[in-house]
Formats: sequence, structure tokens, C-alpha cells
Amino acid sequence: MSFSVMPTPRTDGGQPPVLAVSTADLRKSYGDKTVLDGIDLRIPAGTVFALLGPNGAGKTTTVQILSTLIAADSGRAQVAGHDVATAPDGVRAAIGVTGQFAALDDLLTAEENLLLMADLLHLGKREGRRRAEELLERFGIADVAKNRAATFSGGMRRRLDLAMTLVGDPKVIFLDEPTTGLDPRSRRTMWDTVRALVAGGVTVFLTTQYLDEADQLADRIAVLDGGRIVAEGTADELKSQIPGSHVRLRFDAVDEYERAAASFPGAARDDENLSLRVASDAGMEALRTLFDRLDTAGVRAADFSVHTPDLDDVFLALTGDGTDATPLHVKETLR
Ligand SMILES: Nc1ncnc2c1ncn2[C@@H]1O[C@H](COP(=O)(O)OP(=O)(O)O)[C@@H](O)[C@H]1O
Ligand SMILES: [Mg+2]
Repeated sequence: MSFSVMPTPRTDGGQPPVLAVSTADLRKSYGDKTVLDGIDLRIPAGTVFALLGPNGAGKTTTVQILSTLIAADSGRAQVAGHDVATAPDGVRAAIGVTGQFAALDDLLTAEENLLLMADLLHLGKREGRRRAEELLERFGIADVAKNRAATFSGGMRRRLDLAMTLVGDPKVIFLDEPTTGLDPRSRRTMWDTVRALVAGGVTVFLTTQYLDEADQLADRIAVLDGGRIVAEGTADELKSQIPGSHVRLRFDAVDEYERAAASFPGAARDDENLSLRVASDAGMEALRTLFDRLDTAGVRAADFSVHTPDLDDVFLALTGDGTDATPLHVKETLR
């Protein structure tokens, strides 16, 4: 089950990163319904990638294609260095998949579920026991190891399900909506679990309907809507793409206000309140630049506030009717 084909990632700058997942123009239709309409993904090894989209966007379909459960109509996909169409066994040996609905045997205990998985993977009795014990411990279910899965809460079921995925020591893990339906506390526990996984060097391909989840966990996020990737980038890049991210500066005196306004010709004026609204991505760098510019103009703001669009705004704007979504880039509104 171990996998060692992928070269070590190089960090000498010029080299492109080693990709755990890459797709080119992936397409899939059911009857006359187009589910995936040309999907291109490049996911560096050792990172967390979130495929974000509303219900029915095609997230599970994408995971099914990448995990070789179904075939794409056209396009190419590689996972852990193996082509899903021509080397599905190589892909399967390198991945773990956890679906939206836990695939546990309710009649077995947590430990028995893990041992069964170890058996299926031909790990051998001793190695199987060792793995099961380690995973029970790691996932905080050691004290209920002898209880039947049927008695577990939703959060515990998901954790046990994920633990079962890890028995085979996968290099790429697909988590299809790992926290949908979980209570807030269980969601947080699951997030910690995912973070620990990544710290261990695996690549996580996550699907979610929740932007905050993608924000918490993912290095990069792609938003899937209408069968296409409508935006792609870090959480901050996604947020900065939405109009409305700005800094509001208020001044005590009219002359200060006017000098500041001259320094920020693009800012929206609020003469009545001596306030300027400056478009900014609200990151540390952008704020530093902003304050440097105020310093240079020799003015002090009486107060300032940073306004970032709500994460839900981003999601809604991108997946609303899909008409005005543009490719993502970092806006350098302050340069
Ligand atoms: N086996 C199938 N036969 C027909 N339609 C399907 C099948 N699987 C998925 N679909 C349709 O494809 C679309 C995307 O489904 P899915 O990938 O499950 O979305 P998501 O996981 O983002 O909610 C939905 O409209 C769904 O009804
Ligand atoms: Mg789904």
C-alpha cells in the first residue's frame, strides 16, 4: 500500500511543484445534463485543496472520477502520478476516500471496523493491530474502541470513517463534505484532524459547501459552479476579488481630510463625515502601504476600520447566477 513514485518536492524556486492531482479539460455529462464542463486543476503535493460549490455543483462527481469510481467522458486526470484512465490501480493504491456518508459496519466495534480494513488490505495480524491502535488513539476514539459503531455520534462516525481511510497509509486523501451535518464542535474536531493529517505530509482534496471550512483548512480553493471553475485562489484572494473590501478612514479636521483625499485620488469621499473609503484587500501589506501614504502626506486618521466582505457574500457573488464571475487575481488596488 505504500507509495513512493512521486519525486521529493523541490524548493529551488525555478522548479514547478510536484502535483498530487492534475486535470485537463475534464468533462462529464449524465444524459443531456452537463455536470463537469471542462475542469482544470493543479494541486501541489502536501497541500490542502478545497473544491467549493453548492449542492449539485458536481463535487462528488469530480471526486468519483479522481478516485476511479466512474470514468470521465473526456479530458485527462492524474492522481499521485498515475493516470486515472490508464493506471487506475496505481491511483487506488495511493489514495483514501471518505464519502459524505460514513461507510462503517454498524454491527462492528470501532476497533473491529479498523481491523477489518487492515485485513482487506492484507496488512497482517500484528501490523493490523498496531495500525488500529495507533489510529484509535490519534482520532480520540480509543476509550470507545470496544463500542459498536451504531452507538457513535455523527462526529465520531466521521472520525472513525477517516481513520479507516488511513489504515492503508494513503498519500492523497479525498474528503467529500467531511463536516456536512455535523454540529459546530464536531466540525472543529474534524478540522483539527485534517490539519494533523496535512502536517503528516499527505495531500488533502476536500469538497465542501462551506466557505469558512475552505478558509480554515485549504491552501487553495476552487469554486465550482455550473460545471466550471469560476474562481480559484487562496481564501484571501477570493475575498479580495469581491468588490466592497475597503478601509474607511475618518478625519477630525477638514484640511487633514482634504490632504488625505489628495493622496488617495481613487477613494470615495464622504464629505459630511470627513471619511474616505479606500479600496483595499485588508491584508497587512495593503494596510502598511496605506498608512505609509498617510504618513507621507503628514496626516493622521482619527480612526479607521477595515471592511471585508462576508465569506458568504463571496460565495453568493461567485455562484449566484454565474454571469459575472471573472478569473481570479489579486487586486493591487493600493499600488
Ligand atoms: N449517476 C447519476 N446519474 C444522473 N445524474 C447524476 C448522477 N450522479 C450525479 N448526477 C447529477 O449530477 C449533478 C452533480 O452531482 P454531484 O456531483 O453529486 O454534486 P455535488 O456533490 O456537488 O452536490 C447533480 O445534478 C446530480 O443530480
Ligand atoms: Mg456531493
